[in-house]
Amino acid sequence: MNIAIITGASSGMGRESARQLDKIYTDGIDEIWLVARRKARLEELAAELNHRTRIFPLDLTDDKCIQEFDLTLNLVNPNVKFLVNASGFGVMGKFSAVYAKEHGEVIRLNCEALTKVTHMVIDYMREGARILQFASSAAFMPQPGFAVYAASKAYVLSFSRALNAELKERDISVTAVCPGPVNTEFFEIAEKNGTNFHFKKAFMADKESVVRKAMTDAYHRKDMSVYSLSMNLFLILTKIVPHGLIMFLLKFFK
Ligand SMILES: NC(=O)c1ccc[n+]([C@@H]2O[C@H](COP(=O)([O-])OP(=O)(O)OC[C@H]3O[C@@H](n4cnc5c(N)ncnc54)[C@H](OP(=O)(O)O)[C@@H]3O)[C@@H](O)[C@H]2O)c1
Repeated sequence: MNIAIITGASSGMGRESARQLDKIYTDGIDEIWLVARRKARLEELAAELNHRTRIFPLDLTDDKCIQEFDLTLNLVNPNVKFLVNASGFGVMGKFSAVYAKEHGEVIRLNCEALTKVTHMVIDYMREGARILQFASSAAFMPQPGFAVYAASKAYVLSFSRALNAELKERDISVTAVCPGPVNTEFFEIAEKNGTNFHFKKAFMADKESVVRKAMTDAYHRKDMSVYSLSMNLFLILTKIVPHGLIMFLLKFFK
């Protein structure tokens, strides 16, 4: 049985990835597996999709849930054609003003869980399979006021590009998706203690376009997907201008 697995499927770009895999990028997929904590949201999405689905209401920061998912993979032994790792979150604020526990949860979900899910799913992939990892344009350089989140996404970007190179011999591709701000529920959590993001919201993109570009780039087996001219220019800027200077200048744009 050919399947697609989507984490973070209850909301935002994960949910949109499920919709686009269901309707546009079907690629011989028999079943779509939807993972996130909110069961009702997953059920709602499952009812809307044309494909057969399985829902997994799991907290990916909980080792027991990771083991449960591993066990299901082991029992079903599917051929995973597409993995989308979209679960993730961040909390804005000065480093010391955010609880250490929350920093730990960001690292556990964005880095550790993504790594564990990728590791277990690769065993069920054959040549031609694709992996889409949601990093962020926050990965391009350090972000004071969003330090741990940006560092976690730098991890995702670096890890994904290296893995893409490693998996070439198996003809499996890994695409790191690096959007700027996208209009999802992400900011409800990220800005719960306040925001330092005002001017960046001028670059807000819609999730449908970001995911469409990500899916297209995954199909072309690109190692990075950067939506919009402004984010591509930002990427170039972070490659040619010292990060210290950019951080200094950005202080005047809050
Ligand atoms: N929105 C942006 O501006 C933006 C920009 C660049 C990159 N990104 C990245 O893109 C990805 C998708 O974000 P989004 O904008 O679509 O945000 P979102 O709407 O808040 O979706 C985040 C998803 O992560 C899931 N999730 C959170 N904690 C989880 C946990 N412990 N276990 C399992 N699932 C969990 C949530 O589901 P439950 O709450 O139901 O568990 C939800 O489905 C994230 O990795 C984010 O960092 C977002």
